[in-house]
Amino acid sequence: MKLTIIGTGYVGLVTGTCFAEVGHHVICVDNDAEKVKLLQAGGIPIYEPGLEELVKKNVASGRLCFTASTAEGVEKSDIIFIAVPTPPQPDGSVDLSFIERVARDIAAAMNSYKIIVDKSTVPVKTGDKVAETIKRYCKARVEFDVVSNPEFLREGFAVEDLMNPDRIVVGVRSQRPVAAMKETYEPFNAPIIVTDINSAELIKHASNSFLALKISYINAISVVCEATGANVQEVATGMGMDERIGRRFLNPSLGFGGSCFPKDLSAFIKISEQCGYDFALLKEVQRINAQQMDRFVKKITDTLWVLKDKQIGVLGLAFKQNTDDVRMSPAIELCQRLLKEGARLRVHDPKAMDKAKAILPTVTYVDDMNAVAEDCDALVVATEWDEFKKLDLEKSRKAMSAPIMFDGRNLFDPQEMERLGWIYKSVGR
Ligand code: UDX
Repeated sequence: MKLTIIGTGYVGLVTGTCFAEVGHHVICVDNDAEKVKLLQAGGIPIYEPGLEELVKKNVASGRLCFTASTAEGVEKSDIIFIAVPTPPQPDGSVDLSFIERVARDIAAAMNSYKIIVDKSTVPVKTGDKVAETIKRYCKARVEFDVVSNPEFLREGFAVEDLMNPDRIVVGVRSQRPVAAMKETYEPFNAPIIVTDINSAELIKHASNSFLALKISYINAISVVCEATGANVQEVATGMGMDERIGRRFLNPSLGFGGSCFPKDLSAFIKISEQCGYDFALLKEVQRINAQQMDRFVKKITDTLWVLKDKQIGVLGLAFKQNTDDVRMSPAIELCQRLLKEGARLRVHDPKAMDKAKAILPTVTYVDDMNAVAEDCDALVVATEWDEFKKLDLEKSRKAMSAPIMFDGRNLFDPQEMERLGWIYKSVGR
């Protein structure tokens, strides 16, 4: 199939590359000419495991190319995917101006029947607006169909998730685009659910809000565990063995972050409000998430007493492991709060240090995770990178002014840490 993807962010770039990998011919469009140049030269603007090799391979095979021209992308393909940002506005609602702009650009360039597929996360009923906009601005008066096809990939596992999806959601207003959508996704061997556009759009917000709720639920349980001497890890394992609950997304933490959950929660609360429903349950999810960070900071201040001029080592800056993304990262928020209290920070992240430098200019960036603890009064684990589990605990402990660790991701075993001479505080145990 000939496919065009507009927007080469996380979703657009990975989607385009994976489509090319399964044999489609893909044009990726971005209005950032510098980014297009970088991609054309074989560079990758983000870190995502497995992506770079896949981009290079498919560019070399001629199935994947990049352009800054939306018109070129629209003219040369039959299916146009929209994968542009839908950033949050101060009131929590979604800024749809990029979607609107792209819809108008597509309308202006349409030369024959096109299927316009929205992949960006958008409020329910956006598909209707996109269809109206295209109809209004398409001077050529050609036929088209609008489809909603939300993306569920996780950053850090984007290629894996894209190549092996749990399900493909296709929201349509008529049957006409269904066959082409099925053919596009046929190589992925995943169940395809065909539904109306509004339901498809809702599936995305409902899923992300539910996952955020699941994390806040276990974080709330972690508070009860701390108060009673129970172990949240054991509780999560016991709960997760019930197949109706499942063990995934029951990892307590210093809160969830990233460019999706916080934004999608706010958006969904706002959308519900506009429908006349006060989604108080989701407001509580947000509140628990904020409190989890407050409680973690309090744990640090209660133990260290005065933070002014204390040196703290921080492991992790990305909002989760396997990514260089620091947007809405709990680790960054934690650093900012510790800095505000007057602490000095030595920080390390396997992939996110470059991106963090613009946000945290006054901290010391340490290339070797085993050197972070030097002269520190405490060490904090803020991101769940697997490699932190291999930290040289003996070397780190000996290098510190005091061997205290605050583990916001429960990477280590409390009894083992105590045995090794650490004062060890984690979440919910
Ligand atoms: C999420 C959804 O998982 C994905 O389906 C959707 O398409 C986009 O939003 P992403 O934001 O990339 O993906 O990351 P995810 O792995 O879901 O983690 C989100 C946040 O929750 C991270 O900060 C992570 O550390 C935190 N988290 C996750 C927990 O605190 N505990 C958990 O058990 C799981």
